[in-house]
Amino acid sequence: MKKVLVTGACGYLGARLSKYLAENGFRITAFDSFDPSMYSQWTSLMEEVIIGDIRDETILYNLAKKQFDIVIHLISLDHNRSEDEPNFVSSINVMPTWNLLDKLSKNGLEKFIYFSTQQVLGKLPSTIIDESSPPNPINKYGLTHLLCEQIVNYYNEITETKCINIRLSNGYGSPVFKENNCWWLVINDFCKMANERGEIKLLSDGSPQRDFIHNLDISRAVGVLIKSKEDFIDNIFHIATGETWAILELAHIVADIYKGRYNKEIPIFLPDNSISESPELYQNEQRFNIDITKMKKLGFQPEISLQKGILELFEYLNSLYLDSSDIY
Ligand SMILES: NC(=O)c1ccc[n+]([C@@H]2O[C@H](COP(=O)([O-])OP(=O)(O)OC[C@H]3O[C@@H](n4cnc5c(N)ncnc54)[C@H](O)[C@@H]3O)[C@@H](O)[C@H]2O)c1
Repeated sequence: MKKVLVTGACGYLGARLSKYLAENGFRITAFDSFDPSMYSQWTSLMEEVIIGDIRDETILYNLAKKQFDIVIHLISLDHNRSEDEPNFVSSINVMPTWNLLDKLSKNGLEKFIYFSTQQVLGKLPSTIIDESSPPNPINKYGLTHLLCEQIVNYYNEITETKCINIRLSNGYGSPVFKENNCWWLVINDFCKMANERGEIKLLSDGSPQRDFIHNLDISRAVGVLIKSKEDFIDNIFHIATGETWAILELAHIVADIYKGRYNKEIPIFLPDNSISESPELYQNEQRFNIDITKMKKLGFQPEISLQKGILELFEYLNSLYLDSSDIY
């Protein structure tokens, strides 16, 4: 059984991923600054839970001694906090990637999987975007992820460790921990507004486009990368569905699913407080399309439809009022 270190294991994606890998036969060491001890069902799945700050040299030194087969690195500030002062932002978003690779690749590490983002590409043109599309970040969050990709590429070149960059589009789906920072994600936010306020309010005109993938499909994709016997010389992989939606279309999809489940119409308010009657406004707009051929060639195919993922979110939101169990 492979021994896997997940950093950021208590975050929105890390908690789901650690649970999925533990349930699929991996020995997981979960590392995070968040203390998950009140989630006893989740912690009981982990081989070890280490609470600490990734900037701490002693912690890195002790992690290196544990001789992991695989590291999955998910620690980063979100896009808002990444706009903070450069020394602070790079100490969390960039330096830990370098330090982890520097220390752990010397100890027989087989694979290092880095969670990057589609935002390294900057503004997406309305074409097919494959992994060779040139990066051109337009915010600090994208910039720091691109710097990490370069560090990952360097270690892929000069060490025996297979170092992989995942370029993730946008996740959605229920969190494992109530504290997870996930309600700013557009689909999650729309479901929460529908559930709590009986309305959806858009912050934009609804024209921005997104590719959303459910967090369980993200976990499955990582499982495929872990098991693959590829040489990973070509080491960037899109994790996405390959389906692009305008935000307005997503709002109408959430409202339609809400109506089907609760038999109740909810209004979709545009920023000028007018009500959107139809999702068709942007239907003829050209779209970008995130190409997922490389992941498909490894055997990965997203399985959770928007319909299923949104229903799952409504189930979760209802369970918050009804259920006192400690894990979802
Ligand atoms: N959520 C998405 O849709 C999405 C999309 C693209 C890329 N990503 C990337 O995937 C990764 C995981 O995203 P997420 O949504 O789970 O983020 P998250 O903020 O929920 O999780 C990050 C975790 O890192 C931990 N952490 C932060 N600073 C730390 C420190 N100094 N020491 C130890 N732990 C620390 C936090 O406690 C948190 O649990 C990030 O790199 C993110 O940029 C996420």
